[in-house]
Amino acid sequence: MCGIVGYVGERNSLDVLMGGLRRLEYRGYDSAGVAVVDDDGAMETAKRAGKLKVLADELERNPLHHGGTGIGHTRWATHGGPTDRNAHPHLGDEGRLALIHNGIIENFSELKEELLAEGHSFESETDTEVAAVLLGREYRAAGDLRTAFRNTVSRLEGAFTLLAVHRSEPGVVVGARRNSPLVIGLGEGENFLGSDVAAFVEYTKSAVAVGQDQIVAITADEVVVTDFAGEPVEFESFEVAWDASAAEKGGWSSFMRKEVSEQPEAVANTLRGRVVDGAVVIPELEGFGDDELRGIRRITVIACGTASYAGMVAKYAIEQWARIPVEVELSHEFRYREPVLDADTLVVSISQSGETMDTLMAVKYAREQGARTISICNTQGATIPRESDAVVYTHAGPEVAVASTKAFVAQITALYLFGLHLARVRGTLGEAELAAQLAELTAVPEKIEQVLGEAGKVAQLAHWMADTRSVLFLGRHVGYPIALEGALKLKELAYIHAEGFAAGELKHGPIALIEPGLPVFVVVPSPRHDRSLHPKVVSNIQEIRARGARVIAIAEAGDAAVLPFADEVVRIPLASPLFEPLLAVVPLQIFAMELSQAKGLDVDQPRNLAKSVTVE
Ligand code: M6R
Repeated sequence: MCGIVGYVGERNSLDVLMGGLRRLEYRGYDSAGVAVVDDDGAMETAKRAGKLKVLADELERNPLHHGGTGIGHTRWATHGGPTDRNAHPHLGDEGRLALIHNGIIENFSELKEELLAEGHSFESETDTEVAAVLLGREYRAAGDLRTAFRNTVSRLEGAFTLLAVHRSEPGVVVGARRNSPLVIGLGEGENFLGSDVAAFVEYTKSAVAVGQDQIVAITADEVVVTDFAGEPVEFESFEVAWDASAAEKGGWSSFMRKEVSEQPEAVANTLRGRVVDGAVVIPELEGFGDDELRGIRRITVIACGTASYAGMVAKYAIEQWARIPVEVELSHEFRYREPVLDADTLVVSISQSGETMDTLMAVKYAREQGARTISICNTQGATIPRESDAVVYTHAGPEVAVASTKAFVAQITALYLFGLHLARVRGTLGEAELAAQLAELTAVPEKIEQVLGEAGKVAQLAHWMADTRSVLFLGRHVGYPIALEGALKLKELAYIHAEGFAAGELKHGPIALIEPGLPVFVVVPSPRHDRSLHPKVVSNIQEIRARGARVIAIAEAGDAAVLPFADEVVRIPLASPLFEPLLAVVPLQIFAMELSQAKGLDVDQPRNLAKSVTVE
């Protein structure tokens, strides 16, 4: 939940750190800080509560010296509120070393007692300062940073990425990770560390993902990786697949606005190279032979938040196409209920960041229980894919806004590809049917583009409704997860009460919420298909309209049946039922974004949240 960056090289490290923190600020934004060491071993630090801008302003007023070694941190508070004092870095060895941390050190109170008993003192309420003071003590004993760092991390329990510098060893940054991300950027005469590649992609696209329970020491010319016992570890680098400009706002007013507009590309890029001569090709799944895929009896999808709604959408498609039972479960519930798993269960995790702790732990649990695991992930080198048997990457490009948008449509796309692949292998769809579904899928980017053309109308609706205190969202079948997603977007961005319901559930309770003027978004299925739920949803609309609800229908072009009952209609292009979610979600994303903006809120960094939830 925090962003971490480290640098050693010829540049002014402060510039690298602040640039990296700006790109990592999505990970946490309640305080920020830096420590810089120059070649002579002079160390300076600065830290401030508030967004990165507060620190940047402070550094403008009181610049730090030019130093080629540094570490920087942007925080999402866990232990101790978001104050200057609790901001990172924390100091040890009487101010000679600085340390930053992402994660939670679970045994911090017993370590703190041990250190207090030895006469050490603390200035903050954080678990991180305990690691800093402990490192100071170990440094005094060992006399070198690498050994002291190894001795320190071996004492820690929980989840942590730590970076540290010591003024007696200018030109070195040490780092370690357990259950929390850390990536190395390999440069020429300079090296970088970051929570993800966004921290340094401006300078190098060559990266290395640090493994679980590993330590790294970087200097300008060398990168050494060891395990916690100090044994050297071989590492492999990968090329970052996107440019620094992809993680910039460009001319857009917010990252979210930019990312909403990038959805056609996110779907197209996720499809690219995976549909060949009318067939699905997923080379990443080579480790899963056809016999194994035929032998799967059950799929369990695990994910959180928006990613779980992508899983819910895909459940309908995979069950329909591949005739295999799919259950979707929130990762944080999954591993605490002793789920029944075996070698015939395939566990598919979905995560944009690839670092969500709840999902990571659920994947580990599933593997321990003997299940095979596939990760659907958007972030190269992230932990969840590395902990899984295979990964199918979504190619949405970096998603910076806390509210997930383009990753969602890319996740559904990847899951649909997987579902169609399974259907072919299992022989549950004939060639013609497969080709028809693939044709629908490849037409999605163009159709999303058309939905984006409705943005002005949706924006107007949002501006009219800026004072709304509550909004409901209804859908059936694949429209149900879209209703949930619409409500989640509105809660997280506009801070208003919003609920998503399966429309059929209305009469079982939620209809009591309907009162005159209450806005209700209804995702209306196409009327053009056999067994369409359209008539049932239109009845649901009539029921709420009769009780005074203000109905905003998301309906396909030409659907005239909704007109007499809807106060507003937002049109989406014609698509088969399973493909409607990829279109219907877009107006709901835009509505939440516009309402947030109309209320003067921060669209990209909503309160209390962080992009990647790396604590349980
Ligand atoms: O990185 P992940 O996809 O694992 O994140 C899962 C959720 O935390 C995430 O989708 C969250 O719900 C979004 N902020 C919603 O917009």
